[in-house]
Amino acid sequence: MEQSMIRDISLADEGLQRIRWVEKFMPVLGELKKDFVANQIFQGKTIVMSIHLEAKTAYLALMLKEAGAHVIVTGSNPLSTQDPIAAGLVKKGIIVYAWHNCTNEEYDIFLNKALDHKPNIIIDDGGDLVHLLHTTRKDAQVHLIGGAEETTTGVHRLKILAKKGDLQIPMIAVNDSYCKYLFDNRYGTGQSAWDGIIRSTNITITGKTVVVAGYGWCGKGVSMRAKGLGAHVIVTEVDPIKAIEAVFDGFDVMPMEKAAEKGDIFLTVTGDIDIITKKHFLRMKDGAICANAGHFDCEVNRKDLEKICTSHYEARKNIEAYVMPSGKIVYLLAEGRLVNLASGDGHPAEIMDLSFALQAQAVSYLCQNGQNLQNKVYVLPEELDKEVAEIKLRSMGYEIDQLTEEQKNYLGLE
Ligand SMILES: NC(=O)c1ccc[n+]([C@@H]2O[C@H](COP(=O)([O-])OP(=O)(O)OC[C@H]3O[C@@H](n4cnc5c(N)ncnc54)[C@H](O)[C@@H]3O)[C@@H](O)[C@H]2O)c1
Repeated sequence: MEQSMIRDISLADEGLQRIRWVEKFMPVLGELKKDFVANQIFQGKTIVMSIHLEAKTAYLALMLKEAGAHVIVTGSNPLSTQDPIAAGLVKKGIIVYAWHNCTNEEYDIFLNKALDHKPNIIIDDGGDLVHLLHTTRKDAQVHLIGGAEETTTGVHRLKILAKKGDLQIPMIAVNDSYCKYLFDNRYGTGQSAWDGIIRSTNITITGKTVVVAGYGWCGKGVSMRAKGLGAHVIVTEVDPIKAIEAVFDGFDVMPMEKAAEKGDIFLTVTGDIDIITKKHFLRMKDGAICANAGHFDCEVNRKDLEKICTSHYEARKNIEAYVMPSGKIVYLLAEGRLVNLASGDGHPAEIMDLSFALQAQAVSYLCQNGQNLQNKVYVLPEELDKEVAEIKLRSMGYEIDQLTEEQKNYLGLE
């Protein structure tokens, strides 16, 4: 089999050091690992992962390998791959096809190379592997048992396929487990999106008007944290229920066309396209900053910016300045890609501990039950979700009450 394709193997020690750091903060994955490794539960399985290639996902990949799997890793976004981490994984015997800032063509080559290994199980983040498996790479379905999808946008794409009757593999929507979206999407994106924005701009959030597009799980998190950092927050939504939630949570709500004139910082988290376009850029204040934390770089329309600007230049690493016809400047962070991963290290390790413990549970569940699953989108059984929560609570030193037999009877649970 072919060799890995990475940028620089000499970065491996730095990568392994970063992975060792996050291990300390991922006790749930650590506890599952003990059992999975002792029983070699993934022995003989080939697992292909398309993931944001940074320290936490690398720890998951290593855990799967130590539990017996043959693991192949590729990125899920050209800017989120960290070259030292890729090198660290290769040094540990994992095949990696990924480097930071790859072109779209290279990105496709990497995904295809990963699928050449004809996986038994896939871990996808955003749905690019599944898309290939249903179009140009149907051949790679040959040994496939099923897969697990990490994020809202990927699950959305799966549900579209399933609705049309076109889904050809059982997929577990890891995103839809409580221990995923309640924590990763809300508190994870809530912290890491601001971390990415602050790291790349080195400016204050306090006193700024922040416009958050989308008040789903990610939107709730980034709005809450922006408020905590001292910002005045405006939310834009299309769902009236989410909009009322935003109002009751204490935020201003208005259409983007109005918000465009008011915002100092714009952050999109909708999973939708064309949230900020030409008509919005033209209304923005001089110095407005746009960033995206939704999965794809289609929320802030960069092509529009490029079309209407009279010139553009790199204002700072990961920040492009676009000069508008009026002379005003609009800044775009990280090319409009996930700002928390493209300009930072992604979510905190303690939070990804929950998400990746669920990923590990999903892979184990597929190994045990895959043959009986249909080509549908599944959510992990609630007891596995609760097991992850229980281990997390224990690791944090918290205890909770247990239902008595009388209470179970009263609640009709027995
Ligand atoms: N940055 C990260 O690390 C990270 C983590 C988790 C999820 N995500 C991604 O973030 C995106 C949002 O995820 P989520 O879990 O919050 O989804 P969600 O479905 O809970 O929320 C999305 C919200 O956007 C709203 N929306 C849709 N179109 C809109 C429009 N035109 N204008 C305003 N609002 C609109 C929807 O009504 C919904 O309330 C997805 O792409 C997801 O994959 C990113």
